[in-house]
Amino acid sequence: MIKDVNLNTYASSDVVDYYQYLQQLQPAEETLIKLLKNQLPTMKMLDLGVGGGRTTQHFFPLVKEYIGVDYSAGMIEACQQRFTQLYPSIKLMVGDARNLSQFEDNSFDFILFSFNGIDYISHEDRLKTLQEMSRIGKSGGYLFFSSHNLEAIEKQFNWQHHLSLNPFKTYVDLIMFTFLRGFNPSISYHTIQEKNYAILRDESHNFRLRTYYIRASEQIKQLEPLFKDIKVYSWKTGLELTTNDDRVRCGDMWLYYLCRLK
Ligand SMILES: C[S@@+](CC[C@H](N)C(=O)[O-])C[C@H]1O[C@@H](n2cnc3c(N)ncnc32)[C@H](O)[C@@H]1O
Repeated sequence: MIKDVNLNTYASSDVVDYYQYLQQLQPAEETLIKLLKNQLPTMKMLDLGVGGGRTTQHFFPLVKEYIGVDYSAGMIEACQQRFTQLYPSIKLMVGDARNLSQFEDNSFDFILFSFNGIDYISHEDRLKTLQEMSRIGKSGGYLFFSSHNLEAIEKQFNWQHHLSLNPFKTYVDLIMFTFLRGFNPSISYHTIQEKNYAILRDESHNFRLRTYYIRASEQIKQLEPLFKDIKVYSWKTGLELTTNDDRVRCGDMWLYYLCRLK
């Protein structure tokens, strides 16, 4: 169910238009480029959920080989229009992160699933996707992705969190709170506190998407069987969050995870 609703949204022309004009790297992605700068020129990279190619222009010139994949044909078309002339050797293809059988085992040195692309699939499919990424990545290779932070949205379900000294801000925030509760009738501040992950409708693209939110501790548990050297970064500052306390306290709506294949 989650698959069809989200794919329909990502295939719609207004959403494709929005992504095809994005340009800027997020701070955590800038951190990653600094960390891997010596290795990127020898790397074969898969940019999963490439969307309209926001990351393409930054990574294509840095890596040895670049492949962009997205399950929305509209996104791939937009990317082709944007980059085929500029980068004639670029490879862009329609494909689904849950089944990457077009790629052989141990194919990539670096897999990027940026800007929360992994959050638009169900829980079972997320675990399948992690398996797929570990299959097609080389041992010692890198995975870098972001995922929505349950600790941050949890606060939004508490109406008291929206009260401030600024009456206009309080008014706007309480309206957003009402929408959030209205679009997620089965989730309350009380029930969300008991969860390690939850799929819900948030304000992005006007509540059209079903989005997976997870606590960092749970995300690390999902990664541990397949990946090692797991690190967590704030998307806003690009700084590493080294302790669980840092990750819980950090109010970022999404966090970046860097890990290496076992
Ligand atoms: C939030 S957008 C980010 C796009 C782009 N990476 C960026 O940073 O601007 C998420 C992207 O992931 C893609 N996506 C979601 N689920 C996917 C899946 N199962 N397989 C491939 N792409 C997927 C969507 O079509 C969309 O283009």
